Amino acid sequence: RSFATPTFDTSNPRIPPYLKLAKNYDKVREVLGKGRAFTLAEKILYSHLDSAEESLLTNTNGGRDIRGTANLKLKPDRVAMQDASAQMALLQFMTCNLPSTAIPASIHCDHLIVGERGAQADLESGIKLNQEVFDFLESASKKYGIEFWPPGAGIIHQSVLENYAAPGLMMLGTDSHTPNAGGLSTIAIGVGGADAVEALVGAPWELKAPRILGVELTGKLSGWASPKDVILNLAGRLTVRGGTGFIIEYFGSGVQTLSCTGMATICNMGAEVGATTSLFPFNSAHVRYLEATHRHDVAAEAKKFSQIVPLQADSGANYDEVITINLSELEPHVNGPFTPDLSTPLSQFKQTVKEQNWPEKLSAGLIGSCTNSSYEDMTRCEGMVREAMEAGLKPASDFYVTPGSDQIRETLRRDGPLDTFKEAGGTVLSNACGPCIGQWKRQDDVEKGTANAIFTSYNRNFRGRNDGNPDTMNFLASPEIVTAMAFAGSTTFNPMTDSLPTASGTEFRFTPPSGMEIPAQPFEAARKEFRALTQAPDPSVSVAIAPTSERLALLEPFDAFPASDLTGLRVLVKVTGKCTTDTISAAGPWLKYKGHLPNISANTLNTATNAETGEVNAAYDMDGSRHTIPELGKRWREANRPWLVVAEHNYGEGSAREHAALQPRYLGARVVLTKSFARIHETNLKKQGVVPLTFADEADYDKIGACDVVDTVGLYEMLQNGGKGDVALKVRKLGAEDGEEILIKTRHAISEDQAGFILAGSALNLLSQSGR
Ligand code: F3S
Repeated sequence: RSFATPTFDTSNPRIPPYLKLAKNYDKVREVLGKGRAFTLAEKILYSHLDSAEESLLTNTNGGRDIRGTANLKLKPDRVAMQDASAQMALLQFMTCNLPSTAIPASIHCDHLIVGERGAQADLESGIKLNQEVFDFLESASKKYGIEFWPPGAGIIHQSVLENYAAPGLMMLGTDSHTPNAGGLSTIAIGVGGADAVEALVGAPWELKAPRILGVELTGKLSGWASPKDVILNLAGRLTVRGGTGFIIEYFGSGVQTLSCTGMATICNMGAEVGATTSLFPFNSAHVRYLEATHRHDVAAEAKKFSQIVPLQADSGANYDEVITINLSELEPHVNGPFTPDLSTPLSQFKQTVKEQNWPEKLSAGLIGSCTNSSYEDMTRCEGMVREAMEAGLKPASDFYVTPGSDQIRETLRRDGPLDTFKEAGGTVLSNACGPCIGQWKRQDDVEKGTANAIFTSYNRNFRGRNDGNPDTMNFLASPEIVTAMAFAGSTTFNPMTDSLPTASGTEFRFTPPSGMEIPAQPFEAARKEFRALTQAPDPSVSVAIAPTSERLALLEPFDAFPASDLTGLRVLVKVTGKCTTDTISAAGPWLKYKGHLPNISANTLNTATNAETGEVNAAYDMDGSRHTIPELGKRWREANRPWLVVAEHNYGEGSAREHAALQPRYLGARVVLTKSFARIHETNLKKQGVVPLTFADEADYDKIGACDVVDTVGLYEMLQNGGKGDVALKVRKLGAEDGEEILIKTRHAISEDQAGFILAGSALNLLSQSGR
């Protein structure tokens, strides 16, 4: 086969670089042997390798054991960022001094808009409150040629699905639900800002080759069961950690029966089981959706590409594990409260509510969000609402609708559902995250601290996530079930078996919902003010950051590693117990300072427990004075005194939050010494130039304490040798500077590339030096 003549459209940035991918895939097969059967995830990932030979043959037993073994160096096609995480990603990108991004990118202003009184009012107040952040994002977009989606344009994952996702594409997104695009046969992975910047500057992005969990779908959904129930059921089976290190790949005859947006819902919530991403094979539903969203060109090119690289698993492809779900037998599920993997079939929910003593009164039903605001979802709900209204019923609890984008909103307005929801007394919120991310200012209905139940069609239900009330129990369900519950005003209602009394004394029973996969006419265009601003990079634009800003601050590159071992480090604090990324960098009100490293650093380790005193957020200086942990960090930063933290197991578990690595680094941490690390946080530390070490003998944790003086032994040599060699720590106890010294042996997992990051001061420093 020859690829000498381009047969693909390479001029449209919304069409994946199919020619390049086809050539790469051919190379992969050459390296691994033409007879090898691949899963779809492998095909898409491996065709994005920077170098097939290097990634596939290094440390993989001649290419036989790639999954879980090889470090893939990948070249993603695109990056998407949401407004909260884009701030630090762009601030880091700016330190690289490049005129534009190396690959197409987009910014979506969605997380910072509150849901309260309805679309117009909320949008206005959200813009006012966050104007300087939006101005910053817009000016940076103009300067670097990034597509900018203004506030109200839509939620990142919906806008991506409608505009950028494409079969065979690989993209990164600075948000954990980026895998939503897997519903359109895209490999889409959620990452932190520093990872996004690697892709934005055109450097390879590294990923340990994931294992592949196959989910075989058989049968066909019917009645009340919906795509959401596939993932609610799977979450119950896998639990919140069950997908870790896996890509979930769906296959089987049942796939053909789903809509593209239904597949997106399923992939979206793969994040809830910890999967790297989720993926569906390319099929006719994708073509219908692409064409309805005005992308005939993408559909045509994808079909052509799929003839060369079939966008489905090869027959005989091997999955590391397989789970089967029969869609014909699937019943609706309700997951929660407080965790997405506590899954109860609807038929048992009433009894469970009573047994668990959960509230029987429903205070609100919320449908939509990035997870469930498709045309299919909304038309199914509209049918139910219309039917109930005809019987004289109104929702018995508050009922909110969040459209995922202005395109879907305008289509729903044109075709009727939006008016139906409003007529029923529903509140249509702006096309933004709002109540899904704690930006829900509830009216006077529920006081903080009051136990109450809400049903949402969202994806996460951690305590306090929606309204900041830790006693609000969020139950996740399909939009249809949420709608039914809202009409009943009760958590024990089962629309499949129960009726509701009407004013005329009759009983009303919902008929099983039905809707339309896509509109009869193509989707309506978004209103003018909510369309993406697309622009060529303009170097004359200056990025808007006021020197007096409390929310945004330019980043200074971190200093490089000295040309010697580290001497005179002090232990800032020895912490005990669980230390998650939340403990290291708390969220909540601190989210406001995500773009201002000095200000957000004032929360560093502020809920950590001091191992020596048992106090939370207390640390002692050498003179015995007591401070909060971040205060002492700041004091030592100002005194130019580098430091280390000592901690116990699984330090940095939780999320990929890069601030948990950036903040200690900013305050002067050079080393973090623990019994063990959570993997992603350990990598993040190295990317920011901090050395993560673990005790070779855990008992040594007891030998080191606050303010001890530490010199590294062998660290510089190890870094110069590309991560090869041992590191020990010479520790002088506080108050015994002239006397006793102890030697603590450590372990590390620093690769050659990571040694380079640390020597340069950070991964970004290295990237800027290499002139990418
Ligand atoms: Fe936004 Fe919630 Fe989705 S925060 S991106 S609507 S998960």
